[in-house]
Amino acid sequence: MAFLEARKLVKEYKRRGVSFRAVDDIDFSIDTGDFVMIEGESGSGKTTFLNLLTGLTEPTSGDVLISGKPLKDIGDEELSKIRNQKIKYIPQGESLLSALTVRENILFPYTVGGLEKPSPERLLEVSDKLGITDLLDEYPSELSGGEMRRATIARAVINKPSLIIADEPTGSLDSANTSRVMEIFKNIASEGTAVIVVTHQKETLGYASKVYGMEQGSLKEAV
Ligand SMILES: Nc1ncnc2c1ncn2[C@@H]1O[C@H](COP(=O)(O)OP(=O)(O)O)[C@@H](O)[C@H]1O
Ligand SMILES: [Mg+2]
Repeated sequence: MAFLEARKLVKEYKRRGVSFRAVDDIDFSIDTGDFVMIEGESGSGKTTFLNLLTGLTEPTSGDVLISGKPLKDIGDEELSKIRNQKIKYIPQGESLLSALTVRENILFPYTVGGLEKPSPERLLEVSDKLGITDLLDEYPSELSGGEMRRATIARAVINKPSLIIADEPTGSLDSANTSRVMEIFKNIASEGTAVIVVTHQKETLGYASKVYGMEQGSLKEAV
């Protein structure tokens, strides 16, 4: 059974009174260890699709299933537990807390809700791979956009979740840091995490084990 599955997933929005399908009848599944990339132009429905997969947006029709269980049958409490422990969503844009240092930001999700705190060794391993060890005691306001991005990624990968979903994670990065980030995703996938990365940069697709194209809400496997 797939870890995460979408069945006949549809999301309709209205524009100037006319409804259209931002996500149009998508069937999709991902298993542990898969590294899936979804490429598509701006406006093709990538973010909407990710928001449906994580349950942040409710579908117009169709289902999302986690380990075979429909999201709509999973209660709020259980769902937030799953989001804390098993599924890490890295949204587009910045999401660090400005009052906390980089180190505190990375560890913050694991200071609440009785989660296991990552070891200092694991923190160093991840921050080294992402090239942010020297920045651990800085505040987000002292970082570049690319550095903030990498700290956000460190926070998501540190506890080796079952699934990582990242929305254009390398959009603001130069090519050296893009490779760093893609390498860490590839690495964590090889250790058993399922990874979904959405991008409009075709040059990063080589890292994935499976590539899909998104066009006007439809998802097709690339050949
Ligand atoms: N909350 C919303 N209400 C209405 N239309 C939306 C909403 N969110 C996204 N859209 C529209 O749905 C389409 C897909 O958007 P999005 O999923 O953000 O695409 P992408 O992430 O590929 O750029 C776009 O036409 C966008 O304007
Ligand atoms: Mg988007």
